[in-house]
Amino acid sequence: MTIAVGIDIGGTGIKGALVDLGNGELASDRVKRATPEGGAPGAIVDATVDILQELDAPADSPVGVCFPAIVLEGRTMSAANVSEAWIGLEAEKLFEAGLRRDIHFVNDADAAGYAESRYGAAVGQEGLVIMTTLGTGIGSAFIHDGVLIPNTELGHLELDGADAESWASNGVREREELSFADWAERLQRYYAHVEFLFSPSLFVVGGGVSKHHEQFLPLLDLRTPTVPAALRNNAGIMGAAALAQRAPTT
Ligand code: BGC
Repeated sequence: MTIAVGIDIGGTGIKGALVDLGNGELASDRVKRATPEGGAPGAIVDATVDILQELDAPADSPVGVCFPAIVLEGRTMSAANVSEAWIGLEAEKLFEAGLRRDIHFVNDADAAGYAESRYGAAVGQEGLVIMTTLGTGIGSAFIHDGVLIPNTELGHLELDGADAESWASNGVREREELSFADWAERLQRYYAHVEFLFSPSLFVVGGGVSKHHEQFLPLLDLRTPTVPAALRNNAGIMGAAALAQRAPTT
């Protein structure tokens, strides 16, 4: 059994688990912490250290951490739902110093999309799969014939003069107390545009709200087959773990 650790950092919560990479199932309970108020680097690293300790992972298991920002060569290049102090930071090194081990560091939606293509709703899918995560923001991942094309950031696609995630995320649905029908109208506008631009073979819709998919996915009118994420809220954890296993050790 090959075990890796996956830790998924979000704007609202941080969660981690051991993952069995053979069958793509969690090999431990999920350990969760609320994202510290303000999302500052030191506080987030501390919460992650706490989670890794509680998981009590074997010392030689790969550790993958995913984060809600553009991740370029270990640096966080944006900060949409966390502190702006992350922008330009050598984040991977910061986590490695705190956790006292090597990690593999990726964007959260990229991790989730990779997990869906390897273990979930897009296994064996040819062509372009676009995974979107509907959470505090909107994350996106492109997987073409099983290969991840990172940092696509379609949550920030500008439509009608505003960032898509500022009017179509699940966070906005909750804040504005939108009905699923009203929210679906916004999602329709968003997905129709993404479909027009990229002509994917499959949309996978993830994020915690995907457990309520019957209430909004059937309301969308798209030519692209559109399915809920199979791994639900565990996709980030599983993808971070799986990508860590694949990564060359440095
Ligand atoms: C961030 C992305 C992230 C997404 C989901 C967006 O605001 O820019 O990097 O993947 O939220 O967390």
